[in-house]
Amino acid sequence: MRAVVFSRYGDESVLDLTERPAPAPADGEILVEVKAAGVNPVDWKHREGAVRNDRPFPLGMGWDVAGVVRSTVPGGPAVGGAVYGMLPLPYGGAYQELAVLPASAVAPKPARLSYAEAAAVPLAALTAWQALEAAGARAGQRVLVHAGAGGVGHFAVQFARHLGAHVTATASARNLDFVRRLGADEPVDRATTDLAAADPFDIVLDTVGGPVQHASWRLLRPGGSLITLPEPVDEAHRLPGIAARRVIVTPDGQVLRRIGALIDAGVVDVEVQAVFPLEKAAQAHRVSSTGRVRGKLALRL
Ligand SMILES: NC(=O)c1ccc[n+]([C@@H]2O[C@H](COP(=O)([O-])OP(=O)(O)OC[C@H]3O[C@@H](n4cnc5c(N)ncnc54)[C@H](OP(=O)(O)O)[C@@H]3O)[C@@H](O)[C@H]2O)c1
Repeated sequence: MRAVVFSRYGDESVLDLTERPAPAPADGEILVEVKAAGVNPVDWKHREGAVRNDRPFPLGMGWDVAGVVRSTVPGGPAVGGAVYGMLPLPYGGAYQELAVLPASAVAPKPARLSYAEAAAVPLAALTAWQALEAAGARAGQRVLVHAGAGGVGHFAVQFARHLGAHVTATASARNLDFVRRLGADEPVDRATTDLAAADPFDIVLDTVGGPVQHASWRLLRPGGSLITLPEPVDEAHRLPGIAARRVIVTPDGQVLRRIGALIDAGVVDVEVQAVFPLEKAAQAHRVSSTGRVRGKLALRL
């Protein structure tokens, strides 16, 4: 099968489109013919060596897939069915014609979505869902989503809004209308607005890290919840009375079913900025690592 792999850590030039043996499903795993793969920042962090695993080179790339089931397990999805799902971290293997995933990690592909759109959903949407769940988000709360136009952020805005929260989302000026359309009550220009003047938040989702995480503590009310995604909680900045934790996304086919239902009902939209052919994976990484993507990127196989 054709696969994008890499045999040393480095810049985009280490990505190699080559022929590899098809992967063999282990117990509980299904084999999926990949029609499209999602691109996430963790992909290029893995390529650079910031995210590693214990397997030898060449290493597979990517975690998000949408495609057609080619072999299954008892109780798993039907052979021939269209599914989407996320491979378990830290072992990549989505930028390839055949991928293995736990049967429990996939759900039927939302009917409304193309394969490329469906592949853009799992990792980012599960992260947003699990982050809001970890914070105990509910109706009436004030939720701040940093980077509301990004992959995780654009799902978090929509999920929080669907829960009935009051949603504030940061973005650059060119994305303010976009986050408003997603349902943000208060789109905030991150270059010009000082959030310290805003009413305190019940929940802050930090999708950026560094100074954004540090500033987030003081935006929360006592008893509020800070969820960090790119980095661990920086204990040096901890404030008493704030519950803070980092969430690491895990595959969950049951939640993907629920997300798929919201998508098919038109409650949640997926924004795909660009779809690249598999042989342009390096270009997709270059675009992703600018940190300026609106919504998501995907690869077409
Ligand atoms: N812990 C986990 O399990 C987990 C899971 C998923 C993602 N992550 C991490 O979370 C981060 C976000 O992931 P993602 O997929 O959402 O990334 P992404 O799609 O690449 O995010 C891009 C967005 O970030 C915004 N942005 C860039 N710098 C910003 C800043 N200083 N302040 C506010 N917004 C800013 C940009 O919007 P504007 O151009 O409008 O500013 C852009 O739309 C990444 O570091 C990723 O590795 C962690």
